Amino acid sequence: MVSRITIILFQVFLSLNLHPAKAQAWIKAGYWNSGSGLPVSDINSTLYTHLICAFADLNSSSYHLSIPSSNDRFFSAFTNTVKQKNPSITTLLSIGGGLAKYSTLSAMAGNSTYRKSFIDDSIKTARHYGFQGLDFSWVSANTSDNMDNMGTLFEEWRAAIAMETRNSSLSELILTATVQYSPRLDSGSFPIDSIRRNLNWIHVLAFDYYMPTWANFTAASAALITG
Ligand SMILES: *[C@@H]1O[C@H](CO)[C@@H](O)[C@H](O)[C@H]1NC(C)=O
Ligand SMILES: *[C@@H]1O[C@H](CO)[C@@H](O)[C@H](O)[C@H]1NC(C)=O
Ligand SMILES: *[C@@H]1O[C@H](CO)[C@@H](O)[C@H](O)[C@H]1NC(C)=O
Ligand SMILES: *[C@@H]1O[C@H](CO)[C@@H](O)[C@H](O)[C@H]1NC(C)=O
Ligand SMILES: *[C@@H]1O[C@H](CO)[C@@H](O)[C@H](O)[C@H]1NC(C)=O
Ligand SMILES: *[C@@H]1O[C@H](CO)[C@@H](O)[C@H](O)[C@H]1NC(C)=O
Repeated sequence: MVSRITIILFQVFLSLNLHPAKAQAWIKAGYWNSGSGLPVSDINSTLYTHLICAFADLNSSSYHLSIPSSNDRFFSAFTNTVKQKNPSITTLLSIGGGLAKYSTLSAMAGNSTYRKSFIDDSIKTARHYGFQGLDFSWVSANTSDNMDNMGTLFEEWRAAIAMETRNSSLSELILTATVQYSPRLDSGSFPIDSIRRNLNWIHVLAFDYYMPTWANFTAASAALITG
């Protein structure tokens, strides 16, 4: 169970291979989920360096981002609201999440035309809502094709972000992803090289280790995480 706001501490691997933009010693990132019912203004944003607004979905025919109209006003106000308590906080928009449709994400990642629609629209949407970065949360990726396509997506996404930065006076968008706790799944493994080259950091899912639905005993449901 993930509670209303998830606090995740990450160490950025300074001066190693990750994309160097905006590198800093520690990232203290939290996700705010629009389904949580927690007012954004209640977040004590002084506790974080980065806050992630979740989730934008994908339109299954245009592969553009889709933000339900009921969330629009929260997403539009998110950055300004959390900056009131902590003006130096950085905000990201997360795309996908546990409820996003596998078939849509899989189709998008597997087709260069759809990837381009998705990437271009994600950058536009981030700017439109005032986010300083994007987070890709494809938690259902489960084949080696999915993983390879994700690697290609990150490559193209970073190139588009860099291009947008060159063409504008804005600072480069951060790009992160949510990944499982293991680099290897039953089939395929995460595109580690592409992740290193193209993402600023990753968010490792470290909860739901034990759930009543698949374990007959009690144990810590999470590692590395409080909530
Ligand atoms: C927010 O967090 C800061 C830093 O820990 C703390 O000093 C402050 O009291 C907190 N504010 C509220 C309203 O909880
Ligand atoms: C998805 O995009 C199509 C084509 O742009 C549009 O007609 C449709 O209304 C969108 N669906 C949703 C749920 O936004
Ligand atoms: C990608 O989608 C387009 C439009 O539907 C289609 O024409 C093209 O063949 C697809 N490409 C691949 C590699 O599936
Ligand atoms: C991958 O996940 C999707 C959605 O949960 C499921 O429909 C599909 O069967 C899975 N594929 C494999 C190879 O496990
Ligand atoms: C950036 O500018 C180049 C050349 O000036 C242009 O070809 C390209 O389409 C522009 N890209 C974006 C994302 O605006
Ligand atoms: C839990 O225990 C029951 C009864 O021994 C057993 O039938 C079931 O398969 C177990 N479930 C799991 C997920 O181990």
